This record gives sequence, structure tokens and C-alpha cells, in this order.
Amino acid sequence: MSGGGRLQGKVAVITGAAGGIGRATAALFSREDAKLVLADLDETGLQETLELVREAGGEALSKKTNVAVEQDVKELIDFALKTYARVDILCNNAGITGDLASLEGQDAEDWRRVLNVNLLGAVYGTKHVAAHMQERKSGAIVNTASVAGIRSGAGGNAYSASKAALINFTQTSACDLGAYNVRVNAVCPGLIETNMTKSVFDYARQAGKQDKLGYRCELRRYGHAEEVALAILFLASDEASYITGQALPVDGGNTASLNLPGMKF
Ligand SMILES: NC(=O)c1ccc[n+]([C@@H]2O[C@H](COP(=O)([O-])OP(=O)(O)OC[C@H]3O[C@@H](n4cnc5c(N)ncnc54)[C@H](O)[C@@H]3O)[C@@H](O)[C@H]2O)c1
Repeated sequence: MSGGGRLQGKVAVITGAAGGIGRATAALFSREDAKLVLADLDETGLQETLELVREAGGEALSKKTNVAVEQDVKELIDFALKTYARVDILCNNAGITGDLASLEGQDAEDWRRVLNVNLLGAVYGTKHVAAHMQERKSGAIVNTASVAGIRSGAGGNAYSASKAALINFTQTSACDLGAYNVRVNAVCPGLIETNMTKSVFDYARQAGKQDKLGYRCELRRYGHAEEVALAILFLASDEASYITGQALPVDGGNTASLNLPGMKF
């Protein structure tokens, strides 16, 4: 495919690629000439993304993967290496929301489920791609965290904790890998219209409150998956060659201002 060329010659593995931010990232990376290995639990959505990329002239393969299972993630990285003999970019993007329970209603099983996907999924990916990237002294890892990992008010307790931990893991793994010219960064999206936030958008529209969606952001609007994908592209590309260990909010200025008391959404 002949596109923008910012990822020319690079191979990228993207998890959570069946929709939303992962799909937008796959489409954008492909337009920038990357070869893709797409992963998700949702095989139908994954196939749709694959077709979207291929119909636009891109090169992509997919592998059903549960990022909460270390062996699955190892096999995903092995598959990418076996196919292309290199992985230049890993986007740890798969995520789930978990419960929006009261403090008294916190359920340990829900916490484990959320941490297993949102945190350990990224740990497994980073762990299993690290040796290859270290050996080549080259690589970029981009984790999809959240504004929920920076401040309260954008999700449940377990979700927020998982994203805060992911931001911290972005820093610690960047320290582990920096000497090998392997960069690790995160994006922290604000309110983005995807499947994950569908219920919020549906509720607001049904209640005639669509003008309230994203109104707490300085830009007075919610964001689009493509806008997050552009930030992921920047951090994954050589244009960010001197940036590592950072968490970049892509949130319309949401974290630049004070939150409203007691808000979870
Ligand atoms: N939409 C937002 O407002 C928003 C805000 C901040 C952060 N995020 C983060 O962005 C990332 C992408 O979410 P999205 O908004 O595109 O929603 P989404 O639901 O469209 O995408 C999440 C994807 O992750 C996949 N997934 C879930 N569990 C998985 C597992 N165990 N193994 C493999 N894949 C799994 C889902 O099938 C889905 O395709 C997530 O990490 C999410 O936490 C989203």
C-alpha cells in the first residue's frame, strides 16, 4: 500500500483491534504503511478490521488472543515474529471497564478481571516482545491508559486503578528498556465514542442530553477514536525518538481542569 510512509517497513502488533481505538489505530497505521498483526478476543470484530485494512490496500493478519492469558500473548508475539521476523511496534490497547459499584460493593473478582486485562495484558505483551526489541536495539511500545488513571471521575475504582498502574508500568518498563533504545509510552484518552462508552452515549442521546457529552472538557466536546490513533501513531513513530516513559492525555483538556465533586462519569 502506498500511503503516508511514517511507518514504512515497520511491523506493528495491536491488541483490542476489533473496534474503537484499536481499529482506528490499525487503519491509520496501515495508511502509514505498517504491516499489522491484529489481536482481540472478539473474532467477528477482528475480521471486520482485517477486511477494512485489506480493502484499503493494507497488509494485515489477525490472531484471536485473550490478553489476560499469558500463553495467548506469548503466542501472539511468536506468531508476529514467525511471520515477519520483526516487531517494531506493540500497542497494548485491549481493555474492559468493569463494575461501576459503590465502595461497599467492590467485588474482588471484578477487580481481578479488570486488572488481568488492563494491566497484566500489557505486562505480558511487553515482557514477551522485550527480548526481541532489546536484541535489535529498537522498538516502540504504546499502552492505552486513560484519564481515569490520572484522576478520579472517569470510571469505576478497579478501572481507574488498573489505568494508574498501567501508567506506572509504562514508566518502570521504559526504565528497564531505555538502555536498549526501546521506548515505552502511554496515551490517556478522555471520553471517546466507542463500544466501551456506547451506553453513556446512548443514554445521553435518548435523554436529549447529547450536548452534555464531553462538556466538562476544555474543548467542550467528546473525542473520536481517530484522534487517539493519531497520538498513538506519533508515539509509535520515529518522530517521538526522544520520548519515553510518558503518558500523554488525549482528552480535550479534561485533566487540565478540576473535576466536579463525586463524579464517576
Ligand atoms: N472509549 C473511551 O472513552 C476510552 C477512554 C480512555 C481509555 N480507553 C481505553 O481505550 C482502549 C480501547 O477501548 P475502546 O474505547 O476502543 O473500546 P472497545 O470496547 O471498542 O475496544 C476494546 C477492545 O478490547 C477487546 N478486549 C477486551 N478484553 C480483551 C481481552 N481479554 N483480550 C483481548 N481483547 C480484549 C474488546 O473485544 C474490544 O475490541 C481500552 O484500553 C480502554 O480502556 C477508552
